[in-house]
Amino acid sequence: MYKLIKPLLFQFDPEKAHGMTVNALKTSQKHSQFLPILEKLFYYKHDILSQNIKGIHFENPVGLAAGFDKSCEVPKALEKLGFGALELGGITPKPQPGNTKPRMYRLVEDDALINRMGFNNLGMHKALSNLRKFNYETPIGLNVGVNKATPYEQRYEDYIKVIDTFKHDVAFFTVNISSPNTENLQSFHDEDEFSQLCSAIQTYKIQYEIDVPIFIKLTSDLSVGTLTRMLESITQTFDGIMLANTTQKREHLQSANQKETGGLSGRPLFERNLQLIAHTYQKTQGKFLIIGTGGIFNVDDTIKMLRHGASLVQIYSALVFEGPGLPKKINKQLAQYLQAHGYRHINDIIGLDV
Ligand SMILES: Cc1cc2nc3c(=O)[nH]c(=O)nc-3n(C[C@H](O)[C@H](O)[C@H](O)COP(=O)(O)O)c2cc1C
Repeated sequence: MYKLIKPLLFQFDPEKAHGMTVNALKTSQKHSQFLPILEKLFYYKHDILSQNIKGIHFENPVGLAAGFDKSCEVPKALEKLGFGALELGGITPKPQPGNTKPRMYRLVEDDALINRMGFNNLGMHKALSNLRKFNYETPIGLNVGVNKATPYEQRYEDYIKVIDTFKHDVAFFTVNISSPNTENLQSFHDEDEFSQLCSAIQTYKIQYEIDVPIFIKLTSDLSVGTLTRMLESITQTFDGIMLANTTQKREHLQSANQKETGGLSGRPLFERNLQLIAHTYQKTQGKFLIIGTGGIFNVDDTIKMLRHGASLVQIYSALVFEGPGLPKKINKQLAQYLQAHGYRHINDIIGLDV
């Protein structure tokens, strides 16, 4: 089906095509008789895939990555597409328009995207009221960012404001310090900045007795040395690590528009992020939650990420190229793979190749 729609969608500017997809999801959310149809088409369930992690029940390991639904507008429709979790956002305290358009590109020859959206979103209050319109069975996570106009030394307060606003409404948070499209955000990877951020979050968690898990999402461009250095604070402050966000590098690409500024996502990220995941799994002796993201296109990629130490994965770019049937396809084939190889549960393969 998507094979028929894709050439049409690809005639449009990528952000326009995305807007059309979101509008279609909005329509099915509004007319609730469509939701069971979506579920029937796209949902797949098998006990071998379900996990309880940090008090959250994940029906399957394939989550939606942040950036698809920036302002929590279509989660009710998205949960019918068979994801194990939905990460919404990135949300900032105040609404902001993001960077000027065009700001999203398809690199068709590379199965990749470049985006420089710049945290375009309706702000935390509007996003929260959107989210509260429905009840959900799928765990909803919130990706948290920083407003462009926030003064440099107050940026960590933005994270806390958003977390505080959503603390009763989501299953987990992801502190995003890795978007390349907000000036200086990635400087949170520096030692002093990161330790300030960690202590602000720790203080807040203790003071307000926050028990919602908080994850941290790092850039794909970080060196193994920096990752190793950060891991001690990360394991003390956060409940899991997401590896990894987009890259600013442009290596071995074919597409003519590869020089566009922004974060590159999709297939070219995969091998690099796999290395970061395996390294983290090894350094933390498999005791710290890792969520893998970057260039997952099929069941083989998913299995590799799990075998290199991720307990959960997330996808975005592959949805653009492969369509909304991808989570179901991956989950079905993953369940078949586990059974065919005599594994009793998805847990049995996590970290096997490290
Ligand atoms: C258009 C677009 C917007 C994104 N926005 C965010 C965001 O707001 N916060 C974030 O942490 N990651 C964001 N990402 C990164 C994705 O969540 C994901 O980590 C990354 O694209 C790698 O996965 P993929 O190769 O499956 O796309 C965005 C990605 C794209 C393509």
